[in-house]
Order: sequence, then C-alpha cells, then structure tokens
Amino acid sequence: MKILFLDQSGKPGGAELCLIDIAKPYRETSLVGLFADGEFKNILQENQIPVQILTQKSLQVRKESSLFQALGSVGQLIPLVQKVAQLAKNYDCIYANTQKALVVGALGSFLSDRPLIYHLHDILSPEHFSNTNRRVAVTLANRFASLVIANSQASKTAFIQAGGRSEITEIVYNGFHPQTYEIPMSTAQEMREKLGLSGKYIVGHFSRLAPWKGQHILLEALSKCPEDVAVILVGDALFGEQDYVQKLHQQVADLGLTNRVKFLGFRSDIPQLMAACDVVTHTSTAPEPFGRVIVEAMLCGKPIIAAKAGGAMELVENEVNGFLVEPGKSEDLALVISDCFHHREKTGKIAENARLSASQRFDVVNINQQIAQLLLRVLPIKP
Ligand code: UDP
Ligand code: GLC
Repeated sequence: MKILFLDQSGKPGGAELCLIDIAKPYRETSLVGLFADGEFKNILQENQIPVQILTQKSLQVRKESSLFQALGSVGQLIPLVQKVAQLAKNYDCIYANTQKALVVGALGSFLSDRPLIYHLHDILSPEHFSNTNRRVAVTLANRFASLVIANSQASKTAFIQAGGRSEITEIVYNGFHPQTYEIPMSTAQEMREKLGLSGKYIVGHFSRLAPWKGQHILLEALSKCPEDVAVILVGDALFGEQDYVQKLHQQVADLGLTNRVKFLGFRSDIPQLMAACDVVTHTSTAPEPFGRVIVEAMLCGKPIIAAKAGGAMELVENEVNGFLVEPGKSEDLALVISDCFHHREKTGKIAENARLSASQRFDVVNINQQIAQLLLRVLPIKP
C-alpha cells in the first residue's frame, strides 16, 4: 500500500512520534510530507522512513486564529495543495496526521481523486481550538475523509459533538514497543546519579512546556510534598511558549524549590529517564486527547498520577493501574504524591499491574493491525 502521509510539524510532538510507528510498516512504498523542517525529519530518516519537506514557509493557521486570519494564509496554501495533489497521484491515499495537514490533504485529495484518511489527535473543543478551526476541521473531514481515526473515545466524542460524522470515525489508540521501556535497574541508578538526585524520591514530568500541560500545578504540589521529593521537568517549549518557561523558572525561585527541580529540556532518552523516576505525573489542565506519557510510564513500570479528564480516563483506572486526580488541583496531587512516597509497596503493585496490561493493550503490533484493517476497508486499491 502506497501512502502519502502529511504532517504540519517539523517538531516531534506526540502526534508526530505516533506517526513514526504508523508509517514504518509502509516505508518501502510511502512518503511522509512535512510542512516544516526540523528534528522530526531527522527522526524519520533515522527510522528509514522517506521524508520530504513540502514547503519552506510554515502555514500560519494557529489554534486561536479567526476566520480572517485563516483566509489570510490561503496565498501560502495554494502552492502546497498543488504540490500535494501532484504527489498524491503516485500514492493510493493521503493520510493527514494534523489539522493543517487535513486542510491541505482534503484539497489535495479532491484534486488528485485519492481517498483521504484523517488521524485525529486532538479534542476539538473550545478549550483547545477556536470556533473557526473546529468548523474547518469538521467540515473538511465530513466532506472529504473516507475514514477518521480518533486517538481516543474522548477525541471521537468531541469530534461528533462538533458536528463530525460518527459513521466514518474509528478509535485506535497509540501503539508502543514494550521492549523499549524495559530498562535495567543499573541503568536507572546510573541515571539517578547523573541527575544528582540519588537519595531523592524523583517525580518525573514528561511533556512539552506549555500552560495546558500544567507543569505549574506540579511545582505548586511539590511545595506541599516531603523535602525528599524532587521533580524533573523533561521537555521544551515546542511551539513558542517561552513566556510560560520564564514563569516556571520564576515559580521555582519564588517557592524556594531551586534545589528540588531540574529542567532537562527536550530529551530523546525518555525510557531511561522514566526508569530513574519513582513516580510519573501528568497534569494537563485541559482534557488530554490521549496522553502518550501515561502509557510510557506504565510500560516503564512506574506509578502514574494523571489528570482525570479526556483520554487519560480511558487509560487509567484509579488505584488499579495508576492514580487519577482532579485537573488543576495541586493539593490533591500533593496528597497522592505523598501517599505514593509513603506506601511504596502498594504503589509498586499498582505500577506492575499497569505494566502488564499496557504491554498488551498498546502493543504496536496489534495497533498497526487495527490500522491496516481499517485502511483495507476504505481503500479501493488493495495491496
Ligand atoms: N517526549 C520526548 N522528549 C521530551 C518530552 C516528551 O520525546 O523531552 C515525548 C514523550 O515521551 C511522548 C511525547 O513526547 O511520547 C508527548 O506525547 P503526549 O501524547 O504525551 O503529549 P503531546 O505533547 O503530544 O500533547
Ligand atoms: C496529540 C495529543 C496527545 C496524544 C498525541 C498522540 O499530540 O495532544 O494527547 O497523545 O497526539 O495521539
């Protein structure tokens, strides 16, 4: 099967990391077209997935953009659509992995007469997107897509509530390679030493630095936790949230936490870093569409404390395979972290349950089979 994958980002966010696993089985015959250059391209190349940067100008359609602003970028859009329509003639379908890719892919699909698949990684709610962007996404998906793959029930529900067609929408969770997360204890210990946190109880947070990812909630919680608790913040401001980064540093200083918080920036050794943690937290203040970090923590055998909203509620069952806390409630988060700190045996059992079930439920082999079956169902051309 020859697939033209499209993604707007040059940076490796969760949707892009997910796409690597989806594109890999088709790499002999397929292409990933990106609308921006960057580290994501390098990761695709390391995985021997053919990649091409389709435009030198990145499309200025932001989450909060109005109709006027969205139309303003049409001048940039036309050459890109033409290029995609031309390229698509060599492929069986177009697979749009992001919203701007949907815009370009929908028009390209119309012009090239190739089916369109839209992988929906977002919750299309007012908390996350402007009215315009939601309307554009839903209208294009309804009109042009043969299949919408939602990354969770939460994303599917929001899509339908925004007017999306339920009959074309299927849920497929992100897939993972469980072996990647089996890290020897010795490596974890070395990492703790490298971090200078050997004697500490390490709480990890693994997300790009952005207000809705809620790193500030974890810092507030830390100030209410036992002194032996330290935090590592892993991730960078991928989409220009520099003000928030400044605020986080200021918050650390104001709360007197300088010796207990480490900002590690963007890292590509997530399993090793997670293995060095005692507990992993997820603190999104708006509903998380899926939440790769939650599954990754489970696969590492680490207790996960997640914000109770969106896709996270499909991944975590409280006190069975992790812990759920109300989003934005730092007192509640501090209580659960302290509880994990004091009851390590009980918490360890919960983490082990999570590891076993997540290794099956999110195994990339099963997930890729689900995607292959869906593609076969909607594509006129069979492999
Ligand atoms: N991640 C990473 N390096 C970092 C921080 C995060 O590779 O420094 C990865 C993380 O392991 C996860 C992804 O980025 O796989 C983030 O995906 P998630 O679904 O949790 O959130 P998103 O940022 O896509 O909303
Ligand atoms: C998006 C979502 C995230 C999800 C990822 C992969 O980036 O924000 O929740 O895990 O896509 O589907």
